[in-house]
Amino acid sequence: MISFLKKYASLLCLTVFVFSLFSCSMQTESLLSSPNEQIRVKFSLTEAGTPQYEVFYKEKPVILSSSMGFEFKDQPPLNKGFRITEMNNRQEDETWAMPWGEQDSVRNHFNELKIQLEETGAPNRKLNIVFRVFDDGIGFRYEFPEQPNLNEVLITDENTQFNLTGDHQVWWQPGDWDIYEHLYNATKFSEIDAISKRDDPNLKATYIPENAVNTPVTMKTSEGVYLSFHEADLTDYSGMTLKVDTSNNSMVSELVGSERLQGKAIISAPFNTPWRTIQIADRAGDLIESKMVLNLNDPNILGDVSYFTPMKYVGIWWEMHLGKSTWDMEGSQSMNTFTNSGEIKPNHGATTENAMRYIDFASENGIKGLLVEGWNTGWDKWINTDDREGVFDFMTPYADYDFDKVMAYAREKGVEVIMHHETSAAPLTYEKQMDVAYKFMKDNGMNAVKTGYVGKIIPKGEYHHGQWMVRHYQKVLEEAGKMKIAINAHEPIKATGKRRTYPNAIAREGLRGQEFNAWSADGGNPPNHLPTIAFTRLLSGPIDFTPGIFNIKFDEYKPDNQVSTTLAHQLALYVVIYSPVQMLADLPEHYMENGKPHPALQFIRDVGVDWSESHVLDGEVGKYVTIARKERGTGNWFVGGITGDEERTETIVLNFLEEGKTYEAILYEDGPDAHWDTNPQAYEIKMMDVSNTDTVEVMLAPGGGFALSLKEK
Ligand code: NOJ
Ligand code: CA
Repeated sequence: MISFLKKYASLLCLTVFVFSLFSCSMQTESLLSSPNEQIRVKFSLTEAGTPQYEVFYKEKPVILSSSMGFEFKDQPPLNKGFRITEMNNRQEDETWAMPWGEQDSVRNHFNELKIQLEETGAPNRKLNIVFRVFDDGIGFRYEFPEQPNLNEVLITDENTQFNLTGDHQVWWQPGDWDIYEHLYNATKFSEIDAISKRDDPNLKATYIPENAVNTPVTMKTSEGVYLSFHEADLTDYSGMTLKVDTSNNSMVSELVGSERLQGKAIISAPFNTPWRTIQIADRAGDLIESKMVLNLNDPNILGDVSYFTPMKYVGIWWEMHLGKSTWDMEGSQSMNTFTNSGEIKPNHGATTENAMRYIDFASENGIKGLLVEGWNTGWDKWINTDDREGVFDFMTPYADYDFDKVMAYAREKGVEVIMHHETSAAPLTYEKQMDVAYKFMKDNGMNAVKTGYVGKIIPKGEYHHGQWMVRHYQKVLEEAGKMKIAINAHEPIKATGKRRTYPNAIAREGLRGQEFNAWSADGGNPPNHLPTIAFTRLLSGPIDFTPGIFNIKFDEYKPDNQVSTTLAHQLALYVVIYSPVQMLADLPEHYMENGKPHPALQFIRDVGVDWSESHVLDGEVGKYVTIARKERGTGNWFVGGITGDEERTETIVLNFLEEGKTYEAILYEDGPDAHWDTNPQAYEIKMMDVSNTDTVEVMLAPGGGFALSLKEK
């Protein structure tokens, strides 16, 4: 009888993609499929009325029954005793244009199910759960509708479970509340040990309260399915870490807290949480090609953002990280003084003459942008003190930096200067000056700013990834957006696809960048760092990694540090690591050889920064990755490939080129005996004509790579 009832009810409730398993009015269960029907989500209420979901890929479970709910201060938990009051479904299939990006346009195609829940007993609170199922994964979020018995509430815990089907291979970094500048670890799920990553001496702010991981966290099941967990549209809420239960293959959301709040996030209904996302793919490269996280964000609300044009840039930057010069005019603040208690000697990097030297280099090489760090007063006390409020001033140049002269010279040479605002993690000081600082930028023709948040957040008790800072980063995007300014944030909140809504969010750091190779005490980034980043951190959004180091060992400055890649690997990063701003991070003199431009510089001059198509040709997490991108406007293609510490041969099938056309190919590859440690600068350049029926075979040295430019003849 029951099974007959169920069958009958399901027939009644059946739509194209929502399959309901009990009568519509008393439904406790529902199935939602992706447009291609390969991914299914089953939502149900347990006997106790607790919401739970399961996820299937190609009919096999990838997430086992996982419960959902909240705990609050001064209110009973909201996690059981629910009934379904209504279910609605809809389908979306739209295509939207990217103002800049990895491709011209993005298809947003999903099936949605919204489940409205209400407690059966007092206080009869309501909660909606919305699922969206795409061909490349799922997203779900909670909605707190407006209601009499839940208004403003302090969330002390969000308990969204992710119960895994096995002890998967995982690429993880610790759930740090203050920074994402950790190496990724490759272990079994059962071996995750975030606590062992506590108190990294290379970090100015780090807090890892428990055995949790940051997102994106990527996994591979024993059946070869790739999963990556993250969140989309993180707005007015705390960042989510995932607490791991290593003995039960289980994770649960653990929001970043605030000691001032004595909780996780304060919300007032109506309120929607960020989307919890799970990317699902058979091919590792499909994780990179997926645009699901972006699709879960609202459309562009800024309108025209053509004031920002994607660009390559140089900067007075690497020299401070190498200890060649200092940020402050007084001469105490280079990275050497932090890492080796180096001597104080006046050696300011941001001088008028030095900036003009970089402008000359940029204009001679067709590089559009120049970043100048250390141009403004305050750097003599920017770090290693609790008293950082009011230190920085975003209007006043140092006496040896003739701001107007530099700006005039840049204009004359066709170079755009990128502003630098290091806040030293004192966001209130920044907020106070924001409007005048942005006006000052615009008055001087500046359209983009690199921001920074080094150190522990002031006020004490707040963390970089908590709600209070999420609100600050949001305010920066909004205020900058009003002034037509683009933001490249360092020590940021993670990217969650906001660049769709705010396309002035151009890039961010949020990983162990190139700078660690200059000074970290642990040997810098190992060769497999970027082949891992491509399948983890890069999934969340553009990275200001600052590639292009040619002087790999820089013994003149730091005999004990080096970059652990080959030179050709550095070239490949302009294609592999997507960002609409790409730095030529090395010193101008390091791009010269025997008084002439280094031959490999030609690739960086040629390579695009804005793309109409991107394809991941090959890749395995933590091992290697090869990506091809087509430049907007020119139709030229660029291919970049990198490997970790294992050498490999890559066969590039050029079938993505336009049929019937001949392309001039220039291949920059590792020299025959290149090696990231023993011979990192050995490279070769080969030129040939190719068409879309050709293949190119390349040898990648340990820690090596290649870059290929393909220009239509
Ligand atoms: C840390 C940033 O990541 C780095 O790029 C910058 O040079 C320093 N902070 C100073 O702002
Ligand atoms: Ca940093």
